[in-house]
Amino acid sequence: MSQTKPVRITETILRDAHQSLIATRMSTERMLPIVEKLDQVGYHSLECWGGATFDASLRFLHEDPWDRLRKIKDKAKKTPLQMLFRGQNILGYRPYGDDVVEYFVQKSIANGIDIIRIFDCLNDLRNLETAVKASNKEKGHAQIALSYTLGDAYTLDYWTNIAKEIENMGADSICIKDMAGLLLPYKATELVTALKSAVKIPIQLHTHYTSGVASMTYMKAVEAGVDVIDCAMSPFALGTSQPATEVMVETFKGTPYDTGYDQNLLAEIADYFRPYRDECLESGLLNPKNMGVNIKTLLYQVPGGMLSNLTSQLKDLGAEDKYYEVLEEVPRVRKDFGECPLVTPSSQIVGSQAVMNVVAGERYKMVTKETKDVLSGKYGKTVKPFNPEVQKKCIGDAEVITCRPADLVPNELETLEAEMAQYKEQDEDVLSYALFPQVATDFFKYREAQKTKMDASVADTKNGAYPV
Ligand code: CO
Repeated sequence: MSQTKPVRITETILRDAHQSLIATRMSTERMLPIVEKLDQVGYHSLECWGGATFDASLRFLHEDPWDRLRKIKDKAKKTPLQMLFRGQNILGYRPYGDDVVEYFVQKSIANGIDIIRIFDCLNDLRNLETAVKASNKEKGHAQIALSYTLGDAYTLDYWTNIAKEIENMGADSICIKDMAGLLLPYKATELVTALKSAVKIPIQLHTHYTSGVASMTYMKAVEAGVDVIDCAMSPFALGTSQPATEVMVETFKGTPYDTGYDQNLLAEIADYFRPYRDECLESGLLNPKNMGVNIKTLLYQVPGGMLSNLTSQLKDLGAEDKYYEVLEEVPRVRKDFGECPLVTPSSQIVGSQAVMNVVAGERYKMVTKETKDVLSGKYGKTVKPFNPEVQKKCIGDAEVITCRPADLVPNELETLEAEMAQYKEQDEDVLSYALFPQVATDFFKYREAQKTKMDASVADTKNGAYPV
């Protein structure tokens, strides 16, 4: 304890904080004026890209996500920029060919990303291989995130063994990704202590405040030697987001873990975001319900985002009275699916199937395509075997894959390039198209229309008229 070991912080306000609280709607325009100040804090990294931000930029904000990244990089000269990456699914919902994964990593780093946090919803490390190799090749920092979950299979031995495999794969660091806020303070002591003695690479902890324990969990994790924690500036902290940066900084002040960050500078940054938070509360974008403690998340071990998805699915089906039945069905489906973690996309797949099992009145009478794919091994290997009866009922005698799923996905860049050639303005456009073909095409058309509009107004000006 006599040794000084400042804890470092990854600031999530530009990615996870607004993804968790305001449906990923923070625009580039909103971010840019504060980036230089964020850059002065001395953060370990600034998480600002990936996850749902890519989809939301194109779909809802009509913004080019690549352009956002370049603009942030222009202003953040010192702080490493970080993104979240869904392994072979990149930022989409299906496994992509290796060539697309490699190209995406290459372009992310070329446009300004320093640290790529890569995870797989089943913790199947084969789904991370291509992204890690590509990141090593491009001299990026490859961080592998373990999707944290509870269950018989998830012993300390499980976590330490997988951590050793991650270190051997060539990852630069490990993140414990606790998307549901399930990691309890004293369990964090055990887990971090075990991981620190198992591997040499740094350990980072990512959690959400959903169940109300997150800042205590950080405190115990830091005492156990965790290297980095993920926090969000107070106006967009707590609730379904992360613990507040300023609070954690103050907590460790004067201890061996002192971050050394300037609270006055942090206060200026908070001042910038506070009016926006008020605006979001007023417009309803920020739902006060997401700000409290949701203890159901501990009872049912379901991430906050999944709870709200279930509510809206049941509403669409006019079956809102089945909410608690569905919540009880979720762990059963998860068990049938080899006790997988619940994180995008497995959370959506398990959630939808639980809804169907309850609404149809018979388990697995109705089955989604994704359920069949999971049970055929197309998403990879789970920690425990699938329930053989459920597997038989859902896929019959169909073939079950045991190889790395992406081995069966052919390279696809050339085809994609050909499909979208007419819209291409920059190399990166093909990657936007690969991930979200329809949404990206709509965006390309919008971009084209904007340009035509601008050209027209320049022409008007030349004719002596002024654009209105
Ligand atoms: Co998160």
